[in-house]
Amino acid sequence: MDIIGIGYLGFESANLDAWREYGPKVMGFQIGTSPTADPDTLYFKLDDRRHRLAFHPGKIDRLAYIGWEAKGKLEFHAAVERFRSHGVEVSFGDPELCEKRGVKELIRFRDPVGYQHELFYAQKWSPRSFVPGRPHGGFVCGERGVGHIVVITPEYTPELEHFLTGIMGMHWYGSGAGKGKTGFFRSRLNDKTSHDIAYGFGPGKAGVQHIGLFVRSVRDVGETYDLVKKNGLQMMMTLGQHSQDPHMSFYHFTPSGFAIECITELEPWHDDGFELNPEQLSTWGHEIVGPILGPSVRTPAEVFDPEVLHARG
Ligand SMILES: [Fe+2]
Repeated sequence: MDIIGIGYLGFESANLDAWREYGPKVMGFQIGTSPTADPDTLYFKLDDRRHRLAFHPGKIDRLAYIGWEAKGKLEFHAAVERFRSHGVEVSFGDPELCEKRGVKELIRFRDPVGYQHELFYAQKWSPRSFVPGRPHGGFVCGERGVGHIVVITPEYTPELEHFLTGIMGMHWYGSGAGKGKTGFFRSRLNDKTSHDIAYGFGPGKAGVQHIGLFVRSVRDVGETYDLVKKNGLQMMMTLGQHSQDPHMSFYHFTPSGFAIECITELEPWHDDGFELNPEQLSTWGHEIVGPILGPSVRTPAEVFDPEVLHARG
């Protein structure tokens, strides 16, 4: 499937007021304009797309959907055919849903774990429209998407890996350096970042663990770091550099209980040419100073809707 990467992410949150404050002031997000059909959702712009992150009102804080971007109409419809030929149930978004997401067309589908995904093309875009919520050099999104996400899966199965690599056509990036079973995957057309999504095995657990957002400079990482400390937000890992990416980052917790990894590229990532098997998570820094699994990681019964739990058995 000719997927570029994650075009947008949607969450449900019981803490929209906290996000409205934290998003612009700490992260530098721009509060976007909510479509008339969806006035209660908080939309954040990170670049010139209409939005990249959506926070829908909800009873608990949880991931709502991962929006994958197909290169265009032809690639989108080829992907729909491929899903159907593999027996994956897909449903087309109606015009109202497409308007909410700001896209031409989208389908919805679930992965074998039960997470909701969407595939779309042509999200609304206005050149030079991004105005950060505070002085900020900007996010690296554009042709590579919003960044990456790590979700927890209560079972890590061959079926999951087949779904991602065999059907969605993702590259297998490796298992990382964690002690538990984790799989890192990169969209077929992504040649800019090492992974778009990772599934971490957490028995009896589910939920989003962190999202990774790329900023343009070391200064943007440093200033965000200062603001996180100044606002007394819980840190997960201090500044550091992962073994598997030429990037510098730190992790802190958001109002939804998952972490944001704020990342800058020290040099462009390039395909390593072989599967990495890092001896350790990081070459320097990344001291663990908080929980690795925040309150966003819960039981499957809390994270998934009843029909998903029923389908999961
Ligand atoms: Fe990350």
